[in-house]
Amino acid sequence: METIVLKTPSMEGKIYVGKDILEKRLPVLTAGQQNFVLTDSNVYRLYKEWFVRYFQDTEIFVLEAGEASKTFQSLYEILSKMTGAGLHRTSRLFAVGGGVIGDIGGLAAALYMRGISCVQIPTTLLSQVDSSVGGKTAVDLGGVKNIVGAFYQPCEVLVDPSFLKTLPRREIKCGLGEIVKYAALNGEIFDLLSNNTEKWTELAFLEALIVSCIRHKAGVVEADEKESGERKSLNVGHTTGHAIELTSGLSHGESVLYGMRLETKIAMDLGVCEKSYGEALVSLVDRAIALEPCSDMDFKNIEQDAEKARSDKKNTDDGKIHMAVAKAKGEWTMLALPFTEYQDALKNAVKK
Ligand code: NAD
Ligand code: GLY
Repeated sequence: METIVLKTPSMEGKIYVGKDILEKRLPVLTAGQQNFVLTDSNVYRLYKEWFVRYFQDTEIFVLEAGEASKTFQSLYEILSKMTGAGLHRTSRLFAVGGGVIGDIGGLAAALYMRGISCVQIPTTLLSQVDSSVGGKTAVDLGGVKNIVGAFYQPCEVLVDPSFLKTLPRREIKCGLGEIVKYAALNGEIFDLLSNNTEKWTELAFLEALIVSCIRHKAGVVEADEKESGERKSLNVGHTTGHAIELTSGLSHGESVLYGMRLETKIAMDLGVCEKSYGEALVSLVDRAIALEPCSDMDFKNIEQDAEKARSDKKNTDDGKIHMAVAKAKGEWTMLALPFTEYQDALKNAVKK
C-alpha cells in the first residue's frame, strides 16, 4: 500500500493506494458520526453488496450516471437529501464513483454547513489518477464546464485499483487521457508509458501509474493549490478538450486526448514545442485513442469548438485563448493566442 500526504493551508489530507485500503480505512472513517454516501447508478448496480458491507445503515444517494448529472439541479437534490437526513457539522460525505460523483460530491460537502468532512473513493481510472486528488469540486452551468465550484480538499482519498476490473475499455482509455497529460509534464511518467505500451490495460501496471500520477499531482497542488501558477500545467490539452467535450458529447477523458493532440500540434507549428518530442507525445495520444476509437470523431464542429474555447476558465480579460502546452520532455508553458489566430491554428492542426 502507498500513502501520499497532501498538505495545503486548509488541510493535511492522506491519499492511500492499495487493494486492501477500504477494509483498513472504512471501518475507522465511518465510525462515530452520521455519514452520507453519494454514488452513481452504474456503480451502485455493480457494487450493491459492497455498499451493504460498508454502508448498511447509511443514507445513500444514487445519481444517474454521466456528465449530464453534474448540474446545479443535482447539487440541489443532494443538499436537500443531506438536510433531510439531518447531517451535522461532524458528519462525513463519502463520494464513491468517477469524476462526476467526486466533483459534485466534493462541492456538496464544501457547501453543507459551510463544509463537512469529505472522503473520496474513486472508481474510474480517470478519477483515481486525477480528479479525486487536489480538491477541485464543481458543477457545469450554462454549457460551460466546471464553472461553479470550490477548492475543497478531501480529508482522505482511498484508491482501490480493484474497482478497475469492472471498468469498460472505453473508460480505461478516458483515464489514459489524463495519464498522457501527466506524461506531458513528467519525464519519468513519459518513459514509463512509452516503454510499456503493451501493458497499458494491465491492472498491476495501472496501479504503478496511478501512484506516479498522484505523486506528481500532489506536488503540484501543494505548491499552488488555487491555480495561480504551476497548477495551470494540469490543464494541458484541456482548453480545446473542454470545448470538444461540450460540442461533441464525447467524455472528458476522450476529449482531453483530442485536445492534447490538437494543442500539441499547434505548439509544434508555432515552434513552442520541440518537434521530435511533440511527435512522440502525439503518438502516445494516438495509441490511447486506438484502444477504443470513436468512429464518429470527424471534427465537423471545429468552428464551434473554437468558439466554445472562448468560455474556458483559463482565459482572462485579454480576449485571448489561453492554453497549457507541452514544450519539451518534462517542460510545459502557457500559450495565449488571439482568437482568430487560435481558430486558424486549430483548423490547421485538424488537417494534419
Ligand atoms: P464518470 O464519473 O462519468 O464515470 C465514467 C463512467 O464509468 C460512468 O458511466 C460511471 O457510472 C462508470 N463507472 C464508474 N466506476 C465504475 C466501475 N468501477 N466499473 C464500471 N463502471 C464504472 O467520468 P470520469 O471519467 O470518471 O470523470 C470525468 C469527470 O471528472 C468530468 O466531469 C471532469 O470534468 C471531471 N474531472 C475533474 C477533475 C478534478 O480535478 N476535479 C480532473 C479531471 C476530470
Ligand atoms: N485536473 C486539473 C487540476 O486538478 O488542477
